[in-house]
Amino acid sequence: MNAPIHSAIFTEPAPYWQPGVDDTLECVAVHDETHDVRTFTFRAVPARRFAYLPGQFITLELEIDGETVNRCYTLSSTPTRPDTVTITVKRVPGGQVSNWLHDNMKPGQHVSVLGPSGEFSYASAPVRPYLFLSAGSGITPLMSMSRALADLGPQLDIAFVHSARTPADLIFRHELVQIARMRPGFRQAAIVQSRHPEPEWHGLEGFLDLAALERLVPDFRQRAVYCCGPAPYMSAVRKLLTDAGYDMALYHEESFNFAELAASPVVEEAGCQAETAECEGGFEVRFAKLGDVITTAPGQTVLAAAQQQGLRLPSSCSQGVCGTCKTKLLEGKVDMKHGGGIRQREIDQGWILPCCSIPLTPLVLDR
Ligand code: FES
Repeated sequence: MNAPIHSAIFTEPAPYWQPGVDDTLECVAVHDETHDVRTFTFRAVPARRFAYLPGQFITLELEIDGETVNRCYTLSSTPTRPDTVTITVKRVPGGQVSNWLHDNMKPGQHVSVLGPSGEFSYASAPVRPYLFLSAGSGITPLMSMSRALADLGPQLDIAFVHSARTPADLIFRHELVQIARMRPGFRQAAIVQSRHPEPEWHGLEGFLDLAALERLVPDFRQRAVYCCGPAPYMSAVRKLLTDAGYDMALYHEESFNFAELAASPVVEEAGCQAETAECEGGFEVRFAKLGDVITTAPGQTVLAAAQQQGLRLPSSCSQGVCGTCKTKLLEGKVDMKHGGGIRQREIDQGWILPCCSIPLTPLVLDR
């Protein structure tokens, strides 16, 4: 199943991957992590080394059934091994992209990507002891951070507590045990909702609660917490920590879950912070294919106005970083403040990100 990786280590080091310029990856390996989770390894075409913060994500641009679909995946790989990147994907029942990847992505296949981007990384906060908390496939950014810190840090102080449905659903189970074995400052534990089908499971069973946390990580109040998982899990963790008197200034979480936000649009309030021309009035936005017409309020993005007026558009981060909402602008001008979710050449060709574009004139969009 796997193709050889022609690493640059025996030749001149490749130049670094430049987000916004480089955009093509080739799949070089696929392997199963669990019964429904797979890791896909990619290298750049042409050869590039990847520099990114552990915890960042990339956006895949896939052609599925004649339609371009964007989907963000956190890199599970570490930048300390820069020749390849990996994503680790759980097959979600009915999930268009996860099923397509599991069924179709094979070594040799090329894919267009945006990024890496994102803010969720220990690297953006002062060094201190860490507590990594994850559930399900939310483990990927924390695995990237663990791998990076294990590679770089002789003085590790990391406690990692991962929650899963059953022992069979524990992603990276053996690698985490291996890191803990090799790095004395790295402690890891898993909590499963049910020990079935592994009756000899010796770990914790149930859900992460204060008793479990105090038992596993007695000094958790002194640690910077990095948390990623389904929204209900992260909300439960926030409540647990707040109730326990934890200083939430030390708490970090993956602030948006792409799939969930796509299913439940965020409606932002219209707001105009500056005395600029675009604040003077809203504009009409026509969707050429849908036939819908909406009106933006002063200072309001196209996506926010569309959502407020009941129009569902593809979106994910709502912050101009993932590229999911990318749309061709047929007529008009916008003020777009994106966060890397669109390439300069796409802007030059007339594409915009409606989630971070405020109309400066009436618009016509190719959607
Ligand atoms: Fe992510 Fe627009 S929704 S860039």
